[in-house]
This record gives sequence, structure tokens and C-alpha cells, in this order.
Amino acid sequence: MIEFMQVNKAFGDHPAVKNLSLRLEEGAFSVLIGTSGSGKSTTLKMINRLVEPDSGIIHFSGQDIRELPLLALRRRMGYAIQSIGLFPHWTVAQNIATVPQLLKWPKAKTNARIDELMALLGLEPDLRARYPHQLSGGQQQRVGVARALAGDPEVLLMDEPFGALDPVTRGALQQEMRRIHQLLGRTIVLVTHDIDEALRLADNLILMDGGEVVQQGTPLSMLSAPGSEFARRFFGHSELGVRLLSLRRVADYARPDENVQGEPLADTLSLRDALSGFMTQRRTVLPVVDSQGRPCGSLHFSDLLREEPNDARAP
Ligand SMILES: Nc1ncnc2c1ncn2[C@@H]1O[C@H](COP(=O)(O)OP(=O)(O)OP(=O)(O)O)[C@@H](O)[C@H]1O
Ligand SMILES: [Mg+2]
Repeated sequence: MIEFMQVNKAFGDHPAVKNLSLRLEEGAFSVLIGTSGSGKSTTLKMINRLVEPDSGIIHFSGQDIRELPLLALRRRMGYAIQSIGLFPHWTVAQNIATVPQLLKWPKAKTNARIDELMALLGLEPDLRARYPHQLSGGQQQRVGVARALAGDPEVLLMDEPFGALDPVTRGALQQEMRRIHQLLGRTIVLVTHDIDEALRLADNLILMDGGEVVQQGTPLSMLSAPGSEFARRFFGHSELGVRLLSLRRVADYARPDENVQGEPLADTLSLRDALSGFMTQRRTVLPVVDSQGRPCGSLHFSDLLREEPNDARAP
């Protein structure tokens, strides 16, 4: 749905994006990741024409974005970033209503949308009349995401939207984004340099370096087969293994057997969580329970070493 074709962009004589060809599928959660200065934000901003390429073509739903009226294009794309904050003299409700106001939605529809988004993002209704400076950083970022979603855009562009948040709030917002993505089926393009965030959220991971795409694929494929020394280093030599575990679910590796002692693992946990369970309980086998808390098997420490989940395992 978004396609870059041989796109170049330089600032002065410094190339920021070099001969970039990239497809971002409709409905996918795409995450751009890479070192600082690798061209991620520039790539994102070219999608809604905050930055114009020097050469090359960008298509959105099959159309050259230069042929679409700028305002119409921007209305189809929500944009949330860390550094450009909320309008300081507008309340939370007014900030969220920015695009609905532009689109001249009727008052009742706008109000209903504000309520709906605040609930979706876990913002208490009594925050509605507050000003940005009366909110915590995490609340401000949620309002920023709500504002980006308000006009019901086809695409959500986000540049480090959860930066500068504590790990707990950040984790909660990441879960929220994943849920919103599954619920609304929107195309999302997110820039981050937090590797674990990228692995948690991405269907489609794009690793950039020096203005170029180094590798693209699912998190699992990228971690299982880093295509270069740079990719291997980027995903962290020593942590690559545990990161791989974080992409695998207990349910897919558990055995359907036996009565095992110990504090059970929920089958929705990752193998990384299971590793932690083995360590803290000092056991090599733990019982597994399903979402209703019913025993449904066990996980052995050695299961962490298996390459393939249960279905693919030889009998
Ligand atoms: N408006 C600008 N004027 C001049 N140079 C720019 C401008 N915007 C970006 N650059 C340069 O282009 C390169 C790519 O920048 P970009 O912001 O896309 O990187 P990034 O991958 O988002 O980095 P970070 O992770 O630090 O945000 C950098 O070298 C940067 O200094
Ligand atoms: Mg950036």
C-alpha cells in the first residue's frame, strides 16, 4: 500500500536516504529500526510529504503521492511523534479533535470520537478538560496517539512515540498499540531504536543503516538469520539468543504430559519468560496452564533449545 521506488534524499551534500526501494503492505505493522542518523525519520516523513524526495517515486494505494492534494494525503495519515507536542493552549479534548474539526465533523460525532479514543487509550474521562502541561509524559503521549487516530486515518505514522517513558508505561502503550492494530486493522509504520519494542510490535521489520535498507523480514526471520555482520551486531551478539526466545510462545513448545511440580507458566508467555521461570524457581521442568488456569502440560528446559515448535517436531 506504501511503496518507495528508488527514492533519494540528501540534505546539502549529505545523503540521508539512498536509492530506497521498499514495500509496506496494507494492514501490516511495519517497524523501521536502525542506528541514529540512518534515515528512519526521513523515510517516514517522506510518506506524508513533510520531506520531499530529490528523486524517485512513492506510491500510496497505487497512486503517486505527488499527485494527491497535500491536505487530503495528510488527512489519510495520522502522525504521532515524540518531540512535536500537543497544542499547549488547547485542552485534551480539543487536541484530540484537531482533525475532526478540520474535517468539520458534527459536534456530537466529534465528542463521541473523543470519548471512544480516550477509553481505547486508557485516559480517564476527567482528563478531557485538562491542558497538556497538567498531564504526565505518558498521558501526553497517549493524547498524541489519540490525536493521530482521531480522523480514522488509513495509515498511522509514528516516530518514537513512546520515547522518554518509563518501562512500565511504555510496555502498556506497546500492548495498547498491538491491540489497536489488531482491532482496527490499520496500516502502521513506526520508527524506533528500541530493539525489544521493534521485536514485540513488528510484523515487518526493516533494518536501516547509512540511508539504506540492510534487511527486511519478520522479527523471527531476522533474528534466526541475520544477513550480515552489521545485523548480527545490531541485534546484539550476546542477547540474540534470549531475543529469539522472546519471539516464541510457551504454548508452541509445551509437552502435553505429566503432573509436574512448581509455579505454573501461562501458555501465552514467551520462552524468554519461561527461562526466567526456570532460573527463579531453580527447576528444569515446569507445569503449563492455559488462559483459564487449567493445567495443559509441561515445559522442559531443553525445549528452549528446540528450533521448531511442536507441530513441526518429528514424532
Ligand atoms: N532537516 C535536515 N537538515 C539537514 N540534515 C538533516 C535533516 N534531517 C535529517 N538530516 C540528516 O539526515 C540523516 C538522516 O536523519 P534521520 O533523521 O532520518 O535519521 P534517523 O534514522 O531518524 O536518526 P535518529 O534515530 O537519531 O532519530 C542524518 O545524518 C541527519 O543529520
Ligand atoms: Mg529519527
